Amino acid sequence: MKRDPTRRSFLTGMAAGAALMPRTLSGLAAEANRSPASPADQPANAPDHLPTAAMMPPDEAYWQQVRAQFSFREERVPMNAANLCPSPRAVADRVEELTRDIDRDCSFNNRAKFRGLTEESRGAVAAQLGVSADEIALVRNTSEANNAINNGVPLRPGDEVVIWDQNHPTNNVAWDVRAARFGITVRRVSVPRHPASPQALIDPFAAALTDRTRVLALTHVSNVSGIRLPVRELAEIARERGIHVHVDGAQS
Ligand SMILES: Cc1ncc(COP(=O)(O)O)c(C=O)c1O
Repeated sequence: MKRDPTRRSFLTGMAAGAALMPRTLSGLAAEANRSPASPADQPANAPDHLPTAAMMPPDEAYWQQVRAQFSFREERVPMNAANLCPSPRAVADRVEELTRDIDRDCSFNNRAKFRGLTEESRGAVAAQLGVSADEIALVRNTSEANNAINNGVPLRPGDEVVIWDQNHPTNNVAWDVRAARFGITVRRVSVPRHPASPQALIDPFAAALTDRTRVLALTHVSNVSGIRLPVRELAEIARERGIHVHVDGAQS
């Protein structure tokens, strides 16, 4: 499974999935590839100590293109990239178009096309992330995703779930509710406020895992402190012990 798409590969991937979108996204992706950070613009004999193309930030024209995709006004610029993050205009327009479509004709015949559109979207998202479509579930938001995982993992009374005390509430509250209803145990892990190294973030979780631990549920980047957990290392430690790992990547 391939992971870690960069912002540029993400936008390029949007172009691949743009069959479902108006042309603006294809233009945006083309612009991203055209920026001076493109490897094609890198001199063949560039000295080693200079930043490589991949490290160079996109230029102003690129960001103007990104800005043009959003409808918000200059005097009210949203700084929250989470729950009320505005959609790009192309997405909002498409949602409106399809909502009107189903409102005009909600017959089974008309609805049938949505299955194809959903599968097409799933395929586009999967291609963008470098995974297969059956690894992707399209949900309405991260809260729903966290709760789908929470309700889907089979657990018995006495089983333990290890969580980070900085997980988003939509992750942690769901485990607390399940513990209260079904007798599982939730262990909350704290990490140092100013961790000196990634290891300082790994050790407290490693110490909390026991033979009864069935799930390690994490938020990748805390929306409280901004701390980013070394989730790859933590997942390896948990998986070696047969523990299911759930990572909320809403802020990643
Ligand atoms: C880490 C994290 N997880 C989940 C959520 C909830 O996201 P959503 O609004 O998509 O349900 C947020 C929202 O801020 C978040 O920061």
